[in-house]
Amino acid sequence: MTRTSPITPGAAGTQEARAGAAVDISDLHRSFGEVRAVRGVDLRIAPGEVVAFLGPNGAGKSTTIDMILGLTRPDRGSVTLFGAEPTLAVRTGQVGAMLQSGALLPDLSVRELVSLFAALQPHPLAVDEALERAGISDIAGQRTQNLSGGQSQRVRFALAVVADPDLLVLDEPTVAMDVEVRQAFWASIRQFAASGRTVLFATHYLQEADDFADRIVVMAKGSVVADGTGASIKERVSGRRLTAVIPDATGEQLTALPGVTTVEQVGSRMSLQCSDSDTALRAVLTQFPQIHEIEIHQANLEEAFLRLVATEGAAS
Ligand SMILES: Nc1ncnc2c1ncn2[C@@H]1O[C@H](COP(=O)(O)OP(=O)(O)OP(=O)(O)O)[C@@H](O)[C@H]1O
Ligand SMILES: [Mg+2]
Repeated sequence: MTRTSPITPGAAGTQEARAGAAVDISDLHRSFGEVRAVRGVDLRIAPGEVVAFLGPNGAGKSTTIDMILGLTRPDRGSVTLFGAEPTLAVRTGQVGAMLQSGALLPDLSVRELVSLFAALQPHPLAVDEALERAGISDIAGQRTQNLSGGQSQRVRFALAVVADPDLLVLDEPTVAMDVEVRQAFWASIRQFAASGRTVLFATHYLQEADDFADRIVVMAKGSVVADGTGASIKERVSGRRLTAVIPDATGEQLTALPGVTTVEQVGSRMSLQCSDSDTALRAVLTQFPQIHEIEIHQANLEEAFLRLVATEGAAS
């Protein structure tokens, strides 16, 4: 990673309140030419929180993370970590990061690479401990260029934890990890967070965010479109779908029914997305008694989440 630049100092609000936050982001903006990658993000993460950054490709997650780490300079706004500038927090070993891109240094063994990183840290973990936490003790002797995708990710994780940081920032950490490795990875993160430390990770998957984060911050098109617990986000995006053959009913009539949010025609069937499927069912039976072949499905959470991101992101 070659990009380094200072972050604009200074922030609104009282110094006292700001110093208490692990991450404090205020009115953050960043464009790349015409692309407005980050458009006014405000976010405060308290010490001890495990926060997921959830959003589709291009939402601005990595750009925000790069600014949190002091790797990209914001066009406007500020970031502080534990009340200090990001570059300072990184230098003092308060922050460990796992980035989405960037190759591992070649021609070193895994142990040599982790040792090299440890030597740069003011208060590192023992190298063996970092290898163990990342589940890579068994490949410590392998050359970094010969690792599989999932193994490389675990080495990146070792490089992030070897600083023994107060804050871990992880950009799509589980990409390329198989199911077993993924589970071990999250167990290690839980152990890290249980000691009152802070974790921010980016992901595309609502399920992963819900399983491992206390709080989910949903980004779309450069803005935060939802921020809350997994349950509160799911409440907004979930719901049921009622499908049936409904002779003579128009989409307009069906959309007007109570409990129905949107209507689609799929072949000979009508598909009703419902906020309240019980109410919708009663209403449709009353108004269209000739309805038949009724089926009610639990909405696919990921699909519903994508709909939320599409509508909220477009409106911003
Ligand atoms: N260095 C850059 N130069 C030009 N455009 C960039 C650069 N970095 C990011 N972008 C653009 O900014 C937008 C946000 O990108 P970003 O990488 O932050 O998204 P993301 O949410 O991390 O996406 P993904 O889930 O694919 O990792 C995208 O449209 C991307 O093409
Ligand atoms: Mg990204």
